[in-house]
Amino acid sequence: MKPATLALLLGPVGIVARPCGGHRSQSASSTVTSATYTATTASSIASITSTSIPSVITSATPSTSEKVSSSSTTSSAAPTSTQGGGSSSDSIDELFKAKGKLYFGTAADSGTFSKPQNAAIIKKDFGQVTPENSMKWDAIEPTRGGFSFGGADALVNFAVQNGQSIRGHTLIWYQQLPDYVKAITDKSELTSVIENHISTIVGRYKGKIRAWDVVNEVFNEDGTLRDCVFTKVLGEDFVRIAFEAAHKADPDAKLYINDFHLESGTSAKTTTGMFEHVKKWLAAGIPIDGIGIQGHLGGGNPNASGMQAGLEKLASTGVKELAITELDIVNAPVDEYVKVTNACLAVEKCVGITLWGVSDADSWQAKTTPLLFDTSYQPKPAYDAIVKALS
Ligand SMILES: *[C@@H]1O[C@H](CO)[C@@H](O)[C@H](O)[C@H]1NC(C)=O
Repeated sequence: MKPATLALLLGPVGIVARPCGGHRSQSASSTVTSATYTATTASSIASITSTSIPSVITSATPSTSEKVSSSSTTSSAAPTSTQGGGSSSDSIDELFKAKGKLYFGTAADSGTFSKPQNAAIIKKDFGQVTPENSMKWDAIEPTRGGFSFGGADALVNFAVQNGQSIRGHTLIWYQQLPDYVKAITDKSELTSVIENHISTIVGRYKGKIRAWDVVNEVFNEDGTLRDCVFTKVLGEDFVRIAFEAAHKADPDAKLYINDFHLESGTSAKTTTGMFEHVKKWLAAGIPIDGIGIQGHLGGGNPNASGMQAGLEKLASTGVKELAITELDIVNAPVDEYVKVTNACLAVEKCVGITLWGVSDADSWQAKTTPLLFDTSYQPKPAYDAIVKALS
């Protein structure tokens, strides 16, 4: 792809404000309603320019635009070292497992792991991967009934080859959602579109994906349900429909509800939002196994101080497990990363931690350098501090 085309696709980049109570940038393929929607597909585009993996090319499209790099637009930014993981011989995944947890993982897609430095780090330090964009609705079912599995297959194959656990992300989300879904106004039509979406995807990866984020970001900050096509047409029943479809497609997969700003035991979003609703939904027999706390921390987001209290409060809903699913922390402060790690260790139901990316070069919030590896793929002080805390 030519640089001029890249520039058109990338647009300006900025730390994202909070449209509609959310905290994310908006899909480039969606109607733009705010000037803050900017981050786009730098890492997947970079992979097109440099990779030799054919499936990447068929799957990477400008419509996948969320939580992706805002900085490394060319492969020329890559350093010559291909070792990754620095000089340390430790693996934070192995150390975390030795403490009884299931994994320490990272978000990735072919744009990430096609860089050898990232692949080396992921193989050494991470025991779990989450697709950063390739399983979001606009990437995987861009037209109704028209599925595009190239990117998702590449991620799943990478994980299977490396013996890594997979969190599927995400089946139902109001962003990166194609217009054909947003336009539906009929209950039975939306139900059948949801059921077909979920049964097709979960069924395809049955037995390979350990856990799914079935619904993502369904609550407002005040704990009420977010206004979007799913609630407008189906009320809160879309949650039952989605979890039942996922359970039917893979009865062994762990099914999660995932959200941000749950890093507090007392905020309305944690209490009247996630806690009250999940308790009610579990009592109604909805097959929810776990709650995901995203963990985008620092800046205008919560800090790590409330993480353990948030996990404890949500454990008391009666769900089987919890996970920290999208961790990154503005400026990667050492003590904040250690606090999050210790919070998961302290709460038995917390099964693992997933970082939202490997190195700052590929972060969706690259300007805030929030990850454990720097733009030269070297471990940062927060990485060393986690190793020390787990050793
Ligand atoms: C973390 O957030 C809490 C709650 O907003 C606040 O009281 C505390 O001062 C913060 N701690 C740090 C180190 O910023």
